[in-house]
Amino acid sequence: MISKTMQDALNDQINKELYSSYLYLSMAAYFEDRNLPGFAHWMRVQEAEEREHAMKLYDFLLERGGKVALQTIAAPKTEWASTLEVAQEVAAHEANVTASIYVLYETALKEKDYPAQVMLQWFITEQVEEEKNAAEIVANLKLIEERGTAVLMLDHRLSKRGGE
Ligand code: FEO
Repeated sequence: MISKTMQDALNDQINKELYSSYLYLSMAAYFEDRNLPGFAHWMRVQEAEEREHAMKLYDFLLERGGKVALQTIAAPKTEWASTLEVAQEVAAHEANVTASIYVLYETALKEKDYPAQVMLQWFITEQVEEEKNAAEIVANLKLIEERGTAVLMLDHRLSKRGGE
């Protein structure tokens, strides 16, 4: 049976993942509104992933005999100054999520909740990927701002070059 402390911490994390989903859905709408369907697609994919993250925690809580207690999801913002600002916010948001996963893992260690530790290791690995992807998009957008799109196209061409 899961401890009350662990149960509360997991319920809080479910809320954070659902807020992430909400935030990315709002960003997808922002991009659709600006005729950037590719960026909107990126946000829609992210949004679906966040719901999956929430459901992983939800299912784990139920499997462990815990009680799922859904909380209010805060309204995300709807306006940003630029595409770069959105990408930077995604990167900062993912860093915050990583920090909250680490706190959750520390709680699992303190509670000696070994199944929760194993389950949370998946999230720790996932966050490495999430942070890397967001940082790459921020870096590419900055590159476009500083040097235009030609250098990115050349970079793409070089990435396709086969060995001799
Ligand atoms: Fe659920 Fe993007 O972290």
